Amino acid sequence: MTRVSLGFSKLRHRFALLPALSLLVFPVAVCHADALSPTVIVADPSGKTLYVAASTAGSVLVVDSATGSVTGTIPLPRNPSGMTLSADGKTLYVTGEAPDGRLFVIDLATKQTLHALPAGHTPMSPTLGPRGETLFLCERFADKVAMIDLTQRRIQAEIPVKRQPIACGLTPDGNLLFVANHLPAGAADQDVVAAEVELIDTAAKKVIASIPLPNGSSSLRGLCLSPDGRYVYVTHLLSRYTMPPTQLERGWMNTNAVSIIDVARRAWLTTVLLDDLARGAANPWAIACTADGNTLCLTHAGTHEVSIINRLGLHMKIDQVIRHEYAPDPAMTPANIPNTLVFLGSLRTRRALRIQGPRGAVIAGSILYVTGYFSDNLETIDLTSPGFTGGGVTALGAPAAPSTVRRGERLFNDAGLCFQQWQSCASCHPDGRADGLNWDLTNDGLGNPKNTRSLLLSHRTSPVMTLAVRETAEMAVRSGFQFIQFAQCSEDDAQAIDEYLKALAPVESPHRRQGRLSDAAVRGEKLFADADCTACHSGQSSTDQNSYDVGTAAGMDESKPMDTPTLVELWRTAPYLHDGRAPTMFDVLKTCNPNDRHGRTTGLTTQQLRDLEAYLLSQ
Ligand code: HEC
Ligand code: HEC
Repeated sequence: MTRVSLGFSKLRHRFALLPALSLLVFPVAVCHADALSPTVIVADPSGKTLYVAASTAGSVLVVDSATGSVTGTIPLPRNPSGMTLSADGKTLYVTGEAPDGRLFVIDLATKQTLHALPAGHTPMSPTLGPRGETLFLCERFADKVAMIDLTQRRIQAEIPVKRQPIACGLTPDGNLLFVANHLPAGAADQDVVAAEVELIDTAAKKVIASIPLPNGSSSLRGLCLSPDGRYVYVTHLLSRYTMPPTQLERGWMNTNAVSIIDVARRAWLTTVLLDDLARGAANPWAIACTADGNTLCLTHAGTHEVSIINRLGLHMKIDQVIRHEYAPDPAMTPANIPNTLVFLGSLRTRRALRIQGPRGAVIAGSILYVTGYFSDNLETIDLTSPGFTGGGVTALGAPAAPSTVRRGERLFNDAGLCFQQWQSCASCHPDGRADGLNWDLTNDGLGNPKNTRSLLLSHRTSPVMTLAVRETAEMAVRSGFQFIQFAQCSEDDAQAIDEYLKALAPVESPHRRQGRLSDAAVRGEKLFADADCTACHSGQSSTDQNSYDVGTAAGMDESKPMDTPTLVELWRTAPYLHDGRAPTMFDVLKTCNPNDRHGRTTGLTTQQLRDLEAYLLSQ
């Protein structure tokens, strides 16, 4: 029996040698040697000093808000993924992104790291409790929220949540923590597929409510509360995945939205679209509210804009619609709001930015600061200026020509390369992976929706698409522009996107411990060969690149052979099988394989199936 390599033997070896508190930066994302990639930004209480996470440069930049100049750099042994400041502005808490993530506690007087506390897999969105003794953070790839006791400097509780918690926010009294899950959990062939916001009771240390967003809600990114703690705002995509993606007009495929949650009722209030009738506002990301509660600001990472929203006016309008008292349009009902492109109307100003890829925002006084992920700079907007035109741009580093990979990443995330800017490639492939939804792409006929595939290893595993309708990933990239984005993409740009996708590196599975397989997974590795899985899932990328009917094809695809997918990063790409019918790996092996057409699993005991599952989820 040959041992199968899923391409991790090198990694396993490397991680095994690492001491627990290594100073190495892990390859969690595409690495950009020269780029800063500013994301999260925070302001000290005086508003005079800003701290900017340089998310691919392993540092936090200290910026003088008056001049925009970088006055210092705080180097870190991990890439910073989130930040928050103590109420007195003296201590900075930074999450360091890695499979063994850290919470760095930094004394701002000396710029020294006082403590580096374990913080789970890919920690994000650190949030301080009201007394500053407790800190909450999202362990994105461990599907947990950690509660860290800052006095004892240890994780006090880890609370399981649905899927990829990416942002959280606390009510002012510290009692309730709202958590945005990045992706929907569960099967994708159901009537409703939507990511949820979960609510944690911080005293009981458990989830007390799950608040589903409207059908098609995915790619949640930002979350904030109103200063009075009455409402939660979450940015996300509202995907019209049930429609055949044959056009883009009026948000036919993807719309871009902010959902509002009523804290007292612990329930969804409504979802408001951010797009205009003939111009999408793709990839909403960071969101912040002014201290007076009057204005809500959010960034559009795909269109390089900010939306500045009259928050009180918006709530007044929503209330009127709920009470059926909205005079200008008596036909408007609460159920219509998430489908109405012009609902915001004059309550919102869309302001173009000069920076590229705005992914971080903070408001200090009446100034909005926004970071340019792809342009390594910072834009300020004076919220008191007429039409919000006042402001400027300052560089955070020396301008460098972007590498081809970097340019490709920018183009992949840019809705400028889409008819009317409705979506970027990243709208369905967030972080180059998958949105968890089924789309009925036209390339293999209509009436047979397919779960979005991750693009990791796509260029190494031709042919591509479930029915292998494209010979290579290169061809899929170009046809993606033609048939999904309805836009022209130059060959030069398409090649840059190819290079970006080829550079995607697998993230270490949260099911591993210091890079190693668990005992269960070691047992599962043997079963993987015994159950005949290696007949098709073979080689470096765990696919022989051939197509088979493994008994999963149904409906329009009845008995059609399907492309053997890679198994690398399976832990991240649920739901499984071409139509996302299998919410868990256990379902792939048991429920969806009754006749042993997909490997030999019917003879396995539940324990053996669990072991095999553990192995697969460790890839
Ligand atoms: C509306 C959602 C959507 C958008 C937007 C989108 N894709 Fe996809 N993509 C999909 C789905 C769904 C699949 C899987 C289809 C299948 O399996 O038949 C896919 C598959 C792919 C694949 C093949 C993956 C493999 O290995 O089989 C590539 C490459 C790809 N997309 C690239 C792109 C690029 C580049 C863009 C931007 C131009 C893009 N996609 C935009 C939904 C989308
Ligand atoms: C005859 C070739 C073949 C064999 C043998 C085989 N597979 Fe597969 N595998 C496939 C094909 C084809 C698909 C795609 C099926 C679909 O999408 O409906 C697939 C899909 C999968 C998936 C879902 C991946 C995803 O991203 O959705 C997993 C997991 C998987 N196989 C694991 C296994 C395991 C474990 C075994 C052994 C018990 C096994 N396979 C045996 C061909 C094979």
